[in-house]
Amino acid sequence: MNNEQGLPLGQTKTLGKTLPPGPKGHPILGVMPEFNRDTLGFITRCRDYGDVVRARFFYVTAYFLYHPDDIEYVVSTNARNFHKSMSLRSNFFQRLVGNGLLTSEGEMWKRQRRLAQPAFHRQRISAYGDVMVDYAQRTITRWRAGEVRDIHRDMMWLTLEIVVRTLFNADVSQDAEKVGRSLSEIVKPFASQATIKWILDNRLPTAAHRRFHREAQNLDDIVYRIIADRRASGLDQGDLLSMLLGAQDEDGSQMTDKQLRDEVMTLFLAGHETTALTLSWTWYLLAQNPLAEKKFHAELDDVLGGQLPTLEDLPRLKFTDMIAREAMRLYPPAYGLGREAIEECEIGGFRVPQKTQVFMFQWATQRDPRFFTEPEVFHPERWTEEFTASLPKYAYFPFGGGPRFCIGNTFAMMEIVLVLATIGQRFRLPIVPDHPVSILPAMSLRPKDGIRVVVENR
Ligand code: HEM
Repeated sequence: MNNEQGLPLGQTKTLGKTLPPGPKGHPILGVMPEFNRDTLGFITRCRDYGDVVRARFFYVTAYFLYHPDDIEYVVSTNARNFHKSMSLRSNFFQRLVGNGLLTSEGEMWKRQRRLAQPAFHRQRISAYGDVMVDYAQRTITRWRAGEVRDIHRDMMWLTLEIVVRTLFNADVSQDAEKVGRSLSEIVKPFASQATIKWILDNRLPTAAHRRFHREAQNLDDIVYRIIADRRASGLDQGDLLSMLLGAQDEDGSQMTDKQLRDEVMTLFLAGHETTALTLSWTWYLLAQNPLAEKKFHAELDDVLGGQLPTLEDLPRLKFTDMIAREAMRLYPPAYGLGREAIEECEIGGFRVPQKTQVFMFQWATQRDPRFFTEPEVFHPERWTEEFTASLPKYAYFPFGGGPRFCIGNTFAMMEIVLVLATIGQRFRLPIVPDHPVSILPAMSLRPKDGIRVVVENR
C-alpha cells in the first residue's frame, strides 16, 4: 500500500531523498515501551522494515542499520561525519569515564589513542599471558567437584582481578574486592537505560542517583591514590598504568591526573565486563553443545598434554579460538554501537538528518541468515579461514571497527583463550537444569540471574 506521495507507507520524500520506514510506536513515547519490553526481539523484528529503519525514542530520532556495507560507511569510511551517540554523553556515563578513550572525540581522542596505543601492542601485552593463566588457575583451586557455582560471577571476578593486576600491579590487589563491588553497583543504572526512570535518575537526586555518585567517588579515591603512589615511586612496574604514565606525546606532554583517571576508569569498565561476558556465554554454549565441548577437550589434551597453557600455545589452540569467535557472534557483549550524524548525509539511499542517532546491532547482523547459515546454531567450525575471508567485513564486528576499533581486542582474545584453556583442561561446567538463563540487554549483554553450573572433574 502506498501513501499520497506514491511511496510505501511509512516513507516520506524530503529534499529529493526518502526517510526510511519504521515502526510508529506510541504517540508520545515512540518505540520506547516496545524497546524496553523486549529489546533484542524488537531490534530483530525491525529488520523486517529493511536495512535502514527509522524509530523514535520519545523526542529522539534513531536509525537502525542492518547491512554490513552501511555499518562500514558509518564506523569506518565516513567515520569523520559521526561522533558517539548521545547515550554516552549522559551524566552517568560522563561521571564515570569522563573524557576517556571510549567517550572522547576529535583531537582529544586522537591524542589519547596515540598515547595509549603502545600499552596495547602485542609485544607489551604478551607479558600478561602468565598473569592471566595464573589467576585462572587460582580461581579454580577454590572450586570443588560437585558444587554449584554462578559461573558469570566467577568470570566477572576473574577478569576484574586480571585487569587490576595488569593495570595496577600486585601492590593494590587488596582493592580488587572494593573495586568489584563499586563497579557492579555502578553499572546497575545502565540496565534501565532508555526508560523514563533512567532519564529522571540521570537528572534528579533520586536514591539510585545518589548511590551511583557515592560508588563513583569510591572508585575515584582508589584510582587517584594509585596514580599518586605510582607517580611518587617513579618506578616502571611494567603494567598498563606505568605505560600510560610514561607515555609522551610528540611535544613532550604527558597525561594529567584527571586524564589518567578517566583512562583507567574506562579500561576498568570496557576491559573487564566484556571479557567476562564472552567467557560466561562460552561456558553456557559449551554446556549445551556436547560435540563442540568434546572437540574442545580433545584440542586441549592434544596441544597442552596436561601442562598449563602459555602464550606459545595460542596459535595451536585454533578450535578454542573458533569457539570464542562463535560465542561472540551469538552473544556479542557489546550488542550495539551508537553514533550521531554531525552533518546531514545519506545511508543506503535514505536521508540522514543532522543529529540522527544511528545504531548498529551486532546482535541482529551477526544472526542475519544472509551472512550466516543456520544463524541461531552454535557452530564454531564455520570459522574457517575461507569463511572468514568471504564474510562481508561488517557482518561480524564484536569489537567495533574503523578508527574507534576496540583497543583491547588482542588483550581480550588472549585472555579469553588462555582462561578457557586453563579451566577447560580441568573441569566441565554443565548447566543446573532448573535454573533458566535469560538475557538482560543493559549496557552489555548480561545473563539476568547469572549462569548456574555444576563443577565436574573431567
Ligand atoms: C570480549 C571483550 C571485548 C569486547 C567485545 C569489546 C568491544 C568493544 C567495542 C564494540 C568497542 C567499540 C565501541 C564503539 O565503537 O562505540 C570497544 C572499544 C574500546 N574497548 Fe573494548 N571490548 C572488549 C575488551 C576490551 C578490553 C580487554 C579492553 C582494555 C583492557 C578494552 C578497551 C576498549 C577501549 C579503551 C575502547 C575505546 C577505543 C576508542 O574509542 O579509541 N576492550 N570495545
